[in-house]
Amino acid sequence: MKIAIIGGGYVGLVSAACFAEFGVEVCVAETDPARLDRLLAGEMPIYEPGLDALVASNRAAGRLSFTGALAEAIAGVEAVFIAVGTPSRRGGGHADLTYVFAAAEQVLKALDHPVVLVTKSTVPVGTGRKLAALAARLRPDLAVEIASNPEFLREGSAIGDFMRPDRVVVGAETERARAVLRALYRPLNLIETPVLMTGLETAELIKYAANAYLAMKVTFINEMADLCEAVGADVHDVSRGMGLDGRIGRKFLHPGPGFGGSCFPKDTLALARIAQDARAPSRLTEAVVAVNEARKAGLGRRIIDFALAAGPAGEDLRGRRIAVLGLAFKPETDDMRDSPAIPAIEALAETGAVIAAYDPAAMSAAKPLLPGSVVYAESALQAIEGADLLVVMTEWNEFRALAPARLAQAMAGRVIVDLRNIFDPAAMRAAGFVYHGVGRGQRPVTADADAYDDDADDDHAVMGRDEKDL
Ligand code: UDX
Repeated sequence: MKIAIIGGGYVGLVSAACFAEFGVEVCVAETDPARLDRLLAGEMPIYEPGLDALVASNRAAGRLSFTGALAEAIAGVEAVFIAVGTPSRRGGGHADLTYVFAAAEQVLKALDHPVVLVTKSTVPVGTGRKLAALAARLRPDLAVEIASNPEFLREGSAIGDFMRPDRVVVGAETERARAVLRALYRPLNLIETPVLMTGLETAELIKYAANAYLAMKVTFINEMADLCEAVGADVHDVSRGMGLDGRIGRKFLHPGPGFGGSCFPKDTLALARIAQDARAPSRLTEAVVAVNEARKAGLGRRIIDFALAAGPAGEDLRGRRIAVLGLAFKPETDDMRDSPAIPAIEALAETGAVIAAYDPAAMSAAKPLLPGSVVYAESALQAIEGADLLVVMTEWNEFRALAPARLAQAMAGRVIVDLRNIFDPAAMRAAGFVYHGVGRGQRPVTADADAYDDDADDDHAVMGRDEKDL
C-alpha cells in the first residue's frame, strides 16, 4: 500500500515514519523549503526520541520519502493524510483551518485517481463533512472519500504511542474508507489494539473530548494540590488514593505548574468554542481553560512569595540568583508552546533577580520567548552554581538525579521551589533546604508574615493572597 502525508511537522513526520515501519510506502509532501531541505538532509526539524533513527532506516529501506512536489507525493496512493497545523485563531480560540482547507484543495485539484482523504490534524467537529462537500464540488469526476483518523500521540513518547496505542479511532462512512484505514493499521491486530469505527463527527469529537478530559484531570489535581497546601495534606497520597480506584485511574494525576504544550491549551479552548457554537456549552471545559490560565499567570507570584517567606524578612529578590531547571512544557521535548516557564520567568525577571536557566533540549526554542536578561547555563549544575533559589519547572530525569548534598554544595542559598515534585521533601529538608513542592502540606509561612503580605491579619493571610493570585 502507498500513502501520502501532507505536512512534515510533528504529527505528519511521526505518522509517516511509523506507517513506513508498518511496511507502507509513504511520501511526505512538505511545502516549507527550509524544513524540506532539513528532512532531505536527514535532520529532524523536531526533537522526538528515536525519530531520527526510524526515519533513517525507513528511508534506507525505500519506504519513506520527502518531496516539495505535491503531485509526486500523491501519485498512485490509496490514501492522503492531512497533517498540517491547526493553531488557535486569534481572538476567540476557534481552530484555524486555513492550512487544512488549503491542503485539501491542492490535493483535490492535483488528483488523477480516487483516494481516501484523511484528516490526521485535530479538526473541529464538522470539518470532515465540509471536506466531503469540497471534494464533491471540486472533483465530481472522482470518488474521493473522507475519513477522520485523529492521533493521540504524546510528545516525547510519540513513536511508542503510535506503535502501541490504546486504541485507533477511525471516522469513516464508506466501506472503502474503512477498509483502507483498517489495512493501514493491520499490524496492530497482533497486539489486539481496538480499532473503533465511527462516523465523522464522532471521531472528530473523540479527540477533543479525550484531550479535554485529560486536561481536566490535571487541572483537578492541581486544585486539590492547592487545597492540600492549605489544609496540610499531601497531594502525592491523595493522587494515589484516588488513582487506585479503577474508575479514576492513576495517570494524569500529577500536580504541577499547569498544563501547556501544543494540544491541551489549544484543544480545550477550541472545544469550549465548538460547544458554545453548537449551543451545548461545556462549562467544565471552560472552567478548565480559565483555571489553568490563572494558575500559569500566578506562578511567578507563587514562587516570589515563597522565596521571600523563606528568606530573611523584608528582603526582595533584586540581584538574587535564581536557577530555573527545565523550560519546555514537559520533559523529552524541546517544545516551548504555552510552557508555564514563560509567564513564571517573566514575573521572576521583573523582580530584578538574575535568572540562570537550563533545559536539556529547549534552550534555543526558549531564547526568543524569554526576557533578554535570562542567562543560559550549559548544564544543570552550572545553573545552580551560586544560586540563592532553585525552581524546578520541568521534570527531566537528569534533574531527579541531583542529590541534596550536591545541591547544597553548589547553591549559595537553601531554598527550593519544586513545581513538579521531583525531589523527596524529607531528604531536602534533612539537607537543610527550605523546600516547597506542589500540594505537599507546606505553605509559605514565616515568623513575620507581614513582611510579605500587607493584609496579614491571621495565620492564613498568605493563603488568601495565593488564592487570589492563582
Ligand atoms: C497530549 C495528549 O496526551 C495526547 O494524547 C495528544 O495527542 C496531544 O496532547 P502532550 O501535549 O504531548 O500530549 O503531553 P502530555 O504528556 O499529555 O502532557 C500535557 C500537559 O499536561 C503537560 O504540560 C504536562 O506537564 C501536563 N501534565 C500531564 C501534568 O501536569 N500532570 C500530569 O499528570 C500529566
